[in-house]
Amino acid sequence: MKRFFSVDDVANLDELIQNAIEIKKAPLQKSELGKSKTLGLVFLNSSLRTRLSTQKAAQNLGLNTIVLNANQEAWIWEFEDNAIMNGGTVEHIKDAANVLSQYCDIIGIRCFAGLESKEEDTSEKIYSLFEKFATVPVISLESATLHPLQSLADCITIEEHKPKNRKPKVVLTWAPHIKSIPHAVGNSFAQWMNKTDCEFVITHPKGYELDTKFTQNATIENNQEIALQGADFVYIKNWSSFEKYGKTLPIEEDWLLTNKKLEVTNNAKIMHCLPVRRNVEVSDEVLDSEHSLIYKQANNRTFAAQVILEKILESDG
Ligand code: CP
Repeated sequence: MKRFFSVDDVANLDELIQNAIEIKKAPLQKSELGKSKTLGLVFLNSSLRTRLSTQKAAQNLGLNTIVLNANQEAWIWEFEDNAIMNGGTVEHIKDAANVLSQYCDIIGIRCFAGLESKEEDTSEKIYSLFEKFATVPVISLESATLHPLQSLADCITIEEHKPKNRKPKVVLTWAPHIKSIPHAVGNSFAQWMNKTDCEFVITHPKGYELDTKFTQNATIENNQEIALQGADFVYIKNWSSFEKYGKTLPIEEDWLLTNKKLEVTNNAKIMHCLPVRRNVEVSDEVLDSEHSLIYKQANNRTFAAQVILEKILESDG
């Protein structure tokens, strides 16, 4: 593996999930693999789980890590080609990516959607520029449209908890929020679920359709109650409108998930990538119930990151 941007960079998803589950049983088995090598983690946006789980994974492999909070600690980056940099930007992304490649053997970068330009976000402008100018393998720590390490951790979590004798029904439900949120987690979860053996349903209010590039043939059901019927897993996530790009639209129905609403499911396991705005996106009673997998998902972020770092280190040279 030379890059990790999406599920399309995975040769065999079932095998990757099983590899991660094996790593979880003995996380220090390859503690020498990354010896004398350095992982750079560049954040243009905030993070708790991605930052620390990827550092933990690197530590398990003997990798050194350098973390750069680029938006707070570094020079302000310029993204335009041939820019005359006589304004607020101080360092071009081509110089930053190239220089970081001198210090690191692998670089992870987080660059969220700005939600101002649909064209810039859907073309992955920042991620693509960084990858173009880096001279070492680059992994996504969440880009404008996708969050692959989260989705891999979600796949591991579903594999560990799914019914053994039949394929599971997995429902991705839109949830309310107080602000405009990018589409990356929803897109990415859809993209990865479409590659696994499950019945996959997405439910959201009209106007909140995700990009069909990622949802593809998934069933879309605008009635949340119908969508939840018989679900084994319910994944809760907010996103803003894709069509009216980045906007929050007025909603008449109540989309806050409660235990009452979950009565129609098959004792569904509850998933959320976190962070979560409790009692806005989903109620405490759901998040804190015995069916909640939210902390197990967070734990699996380490093994998702570790299996990807292993694949890249093993294909090095
Ligand atoms: N789920 C997730 O990516 O969490 P952080 O934003 O805290 O990294």
